[in-house]
Amino acid sequence: MAHIIDGKKIAAEVRADIAERVAAFKAENGFAPGLAVVIVGSDPASCVYVRNKKKACEAAGMNSRVIELSENTTEEELLACVNELAADNTVHGILVQLPLPKHLDENAVIAAIPPEKDVDAFTTENVGRIMLGDFDFLPCTPAGIMTMLRQEKIDIAGKRCVVIGRSNIVGKPMAMLLLHANGTVTVCHSRTKNLAEVTREADILVVAIGKARFVTADMVKPGAVVIDVGMNRDAKGKLCGDVDFDCVEKVAGAITPVPGGVGPMTITTLLENTLTAARRSLEK
Ligand code: GUN
Repeated sequence: MAHIIDGKKIAAEVRADIAERVAAFKAENGFAPGLAVVIVGSDPASCVYVRNKKKACEAAGMNSRVIELSENTTEEELLACVNELAADNTVHGILVQLPLPKHLDENAVIAAIPPEKDVDAFTTENVGRIMLGDFDFLPCTPAGIMTMLRQEKIDIAGKRCVVIGRSNIVGKPMAMLLLHANGTVTVCHSRTKNLAEVTREADILVVAIGKARFVTADMVKPGAVVIDVGMNRDAKGKLCGDVDFDCVEKVAGAITPVPGGVGPMTITTLLENTLTAARRSLEK
């Protein structure tokens, strides 16, 4: 049976450390780091994520503001909101929750976020800096996974790492961070041929494709580390990941559960990035 990687516990430890650093920052500078989260519409999953981000910020001693805009907000209105936050000195980090309603251009909205307040690391400048390995902000989910691997003392150098999924939010930056850590990285996607053959080579398998229980035991090398980024509801409405946990757990060496695996680590990186943004604001 695999070792279960307890993301909730690791996140609590890292967040306690961040809270201490936030308290020291406040004592030294007389103000708290501030995060503004913009949510457009009322997608139920997004509402839960945003609520959790706000709670985590406050628990770490940071200011948090949630701006809720209606489903039919125009692009002009959303850009005006982002511009206002960009000019506000009490806001150090800006996060626009994705996905946006279809009539809004995500790229245009992301481009309006100043790179120094881009705590998601989604802007062109920050994505480029990650590629070069010279960055202030790390993308929240991939960096949360890296923190988790570090805390679990899982070595990456020289390991075969396979990422399933090539999204801008998870797959692509995940591959880059594993590469920076000297992994030998393969990215698989919907057009990959003989997927199971590739995934069976992985010492570290990261799954981010958004398909309930897609990865089965026959796709996993015995002893592999399996990281499940998925957050799905099955036919019965039960929360589950992209990995068929019950069968893969019998083959893997270590595995993250859903919930309680990667999810809590994502917000942990957001807190880290918001503190970094506040610190950087003093250097201007
Ligand atoms: N939607 C799902 N994950 C994320 C994330 O990490 N950041 C933002 N802004 N939206 C998301």
